[in-house]
Amino acid sequence: MDVFNPDALRGKVAFLAGASSGINLGIAAGFARRGAAVFLISRSAEKIEAAVAGLRAEGLKAHGMAADVRDFAAVEAAMLAARERFGPIDIVVSGAAGNFLAPAAAMSANAFKTVVDIDLLGTFHVLRASYPHLNKPGAALMSITAPQGTNSMMLQAHVCAAKAGINMLTKCLAMEWGNEGIRVNAISPGPIADTEGMRRLAATPEAEQALKGRLALRDYGTTTDIADTALFLASDSARYITGTIIDCDGGIKLGDASTMSAQEYALKA
Ligand code: NAP
Ligand code: COA
Repeated sequence: MDVFNPDALRGKVAFLAGASSGINLGIAAGFARRGAAVFLISRSAEKIEAAVAGLRAEGLKAHGMAADVRDFAAVEAAMLAARERFGPIDIVVSGAAGNFLAPAAAMSANAFKTVVDIDLLGTFHVLRASYPHLNKPGAALMSITAPQGTNSMMLQAHVCAAKAGINMLTKCLAMEWGNEGIRVNAISPGPIADTEGMRRLAATPEAEQALKGRLALRDYGTTTDIADTALFLASDSARYITGTIIDCDGGIKLGDASTMSAQEYALKA
């Protein structure tokens, strides 16, 4: 099946958490443009209304409500609302997250807990609450992790711990739910342009240029890059893929590529 054909997800229902903006809203748009009905949640009712209105203005099938992923009952209620509106759920994206730069020695216990609660506990809540509502066999679940889940990073102890937890949760749920035909994967984006995440992590043009220079591909990715990866994972083309963390990251985990490139070395040698 061609996952990029406009009908690739026709008739499918997708639930997306943390999808009022940025990468996850981009995934929602990618799914909806291929025919899926999408149900979005985030904390802010206003942001969800705006996101849903934007998708509907394109003629797409979208609905949503406010729900904080830290509140399991609220996530359960949202999942039920999604099922009642659109039917059993085929695709789940758990992507709500919080981030800020902070040195561990100056970070309050509540700051650490807040990020772990949103990212890791929130992901368990979303995937667990989806379980009774899944259209299985064939359901595709995915979480949005980050390079911090495998690579330690300065000022990111809270995020590294939370995303590493998501990576392991992905593998455990893939093992436990695989015999019911449920696939569980994660996407690990690199730095993505025009997102809140990068506004927080590389806040100045200088920091942005320095980061780009360290990447193998020397540039930020786009929300469409991540949406296309999610589309593949959601499709039948990925029917034998489970328990995997897919990197879509410009090579950020390979190490610092800003040292002399092979071409530069050849010129100077
Ligand atoms: P974003 O636009 O701020 O997206 C975060 C979303 O989560 C928003 O819709 C936010 O909406 C929602 N949210 C936050 N706390 C929530 C909560 N407690 N309950 C429910 N929803 C909540 O940021 P982004 O940069 O696109 O990041 C999206 C995902 O990609 C995150 O998982 C992030 O870790 C990951 N990621 C991003 C990058 C990057 O370059 N940006 C790189 C690697 C990984 P409300 O404010 O309305 O709640
Ligand atoms: N540095 C250090 N600590 C910080 C901080 C920062 N920049 N921002 C918040 N905190 C601390 C707070 O001081 C508080 O700890 P305290 O009670 O000991 O003072 C704790 O974190 C919780 O802050 P609060 O503002 O109450 O949390 P919230 O639940 O309203 O918001 C955040 C969650 C902090 C993650 C907020 O930044 C957010 O809403 N983020 C969502 C958007 C986002 O981060 N997008 C990028 C995703 S990659």
